[in-house]
Amino acid sequence: MTRAVLVTGGAGFIGSSLVRILLDAGYRIINVDKLTYAGNLESLAECSGHPGYAFSQTDICDRAALDALFAAHRPAGVIHLAAESHVDRSIHAAGDFVQTNVVGTFTLLEAARAYWGSLAAEQRDSFRFHHVSTDEVFGSLGREGKFHEATAYDPRSPYSASKASSDHLVRAWHHTYGLPIVVTNCSNNYGPRQFPEKLIPLMMLNALAGKPLPIYGKGDNVRDWLHVGDHARALHRVFERGGIGETYCIGGNSEKTNLEVVDALCAILDEMRPRADGRGYATLKTFVADRPGHDQRYAIDASKIERELGWSPQETFASGLRKTVDWYLANDAWVAHVQSGEYRNWIARNYGERA
Ligand code: NAD
Ligand code: DAU
Repeated sequence: MTRAVLVTGGAGFIGSSLVRILLDAGYRIINVDKLTYAGNLESLAECSGHPGYAFSQTDICDRAALDALFAAHRPAGVIHLAAESHVDRSIHAAGDFVQTNVVGTFTLLEAARAYWGSLAAEQRDSFRFHHVSTDEVFGSLGREGKFHEATAYDPRSPYSASKASSDHLVRAWHHTYGLPIVVTNCSNNYGPRQFPEKLIPLMMLNALAGKPLPIYGKGDNVRDWLHVGDHARALHRVFERGGIGETYCIGGNSEKTNLEVVDALCAILDEMRPRADGRGYATLKTFVADRPGHDQRYAIDASKIERELGWSPQETFASGLRKTVDWYLANDAWVAHVQSGEYRNWIARNYGERA
C-alpha cells in the first residue's frame, strides 16, 4: 500500500516544495496547515487534484483534530514544518511563536506518540517523526567556524528560542518515550513561492516596484544560502534514510553578506527586466536601522548528511538565484495575489464557501 505522510505546514514556502517531491516519489500526503498569513494554497494549485493529496485546515495546537487525522489517514510518518518562521515578526509579537512553535510542537508530539503507541510492532518500528528546524538555534558565528550537529544551542531571537525549545521537546520525546525522531537544522532558504517578507523576495518585489531596498545595519551580516529544492530533497532523503535519534545539518556552502545578495539580485534584474529610466536597481539600496539582536553570521558544515546520506546541493547560489528571479517574473498572478491578499480566498474560489 502507498505510504502516507502527514506533512505539517505544507502550504508554506518549504512545505509546498516538499509536498511536490513526496508526491512525485509516490507518497500519499496529508497536508495539515492552519493557513496563517504564510500559508498559501495557490503554491500547491497543481497538486490539489492529485489522487494522493489531501488537505486539512488544522491548527497543530488542536489535539482532538490531530487525533482524528492520525486515525483517519494512518500515516507511516510525520514531517513537521508548521511554524511561525519570520524573525522580524517574532521581535514585534512573540506570542504566536511560542504558541505554534512550542505548544504546537508539543501537541503534535503527544498526538503522534499516542498514535505510534497504538501501531503494530512492524509499523511502530518503521514510523518516523521528522522535525524540520533551523540553524538559528545555534546562535551567531564570528568570522571563523561553522555550525555542526554538536554545536551548543545559543538561540538569541524569540523565533530561534521557540525553535530551539521545539528541538529539545522532540529529542526529549525520543529519549523519554522512545518516539522514533530525526531532526534537521537548515540554513537560509530561497527560491519560488517564498512570502515576500524574507530578504530575497522582498528585495525583488520592491525593486520591480521602484521602492527602496531596506538593508539592515551595514549589510555585512552573513547567511549561508540554500535553494529550497535542495532543502526539500535533503528532507526527503533524511526522512527515508536518516538514523533514528540523529540530527543532520543542511546548508548550501554558499555564504554571502546581505549586500552581496542584494547586489547579485539587482544585477540579474538589470539584465532580465531593465528599468525604463536606464538606472540600475542597485541605486534603490537604502541602509535602515538594524534588526535588534541581529545575528552576525550563520554557516553550516553539511559534511554529515553528505557523507552518510549522499546528499549535496544541486544549485549554486548563482544558478539558483537566476532561476528564482525567473520564477517570480513568470508567475505574476501568484505575486499579485500575495500582494493583494487574494491568495487567502483560494479555498472559497476553488471549492465554494462550504469548503
Ligand atoms: P513559512 O512561514 O513559509 O510556512 C509556515 C507554514 O506553517 C504556513 O503554511 C503556515 O500556514 C503554517 N502554520 C503556521 N502556524 C501553524 C499552526 N499553528 N498550525 C498549522 N500550520 C501552521 O515557513 P517556511 O519558510 O516554509 O519554513 C518551514 C519550516 O522550516 C519552519 O519550521 C522553519 O522554522 C523551518 N526553516 C525555515 C528556513 C527558511 O529559510 N525559510 C530555514 C530552515 C528551517
Ligand atoms: O537561517 C535559517 C532562517 O533563515 C530560518 O530559520 C528563518 O525561518 C528564515 O526566515 C531565515 O531567517 P533570517 O532572519 O536570516 O531571514 P530574513 O530573510 O528575514 O533575513 C535575511 C538577512 O537579511 C538577515 O541578516 C536580515 C536581513 N534583512 C532582512 C530583511 C527582511 C535586511 O537587511 N532587510 C530586510 O528587509
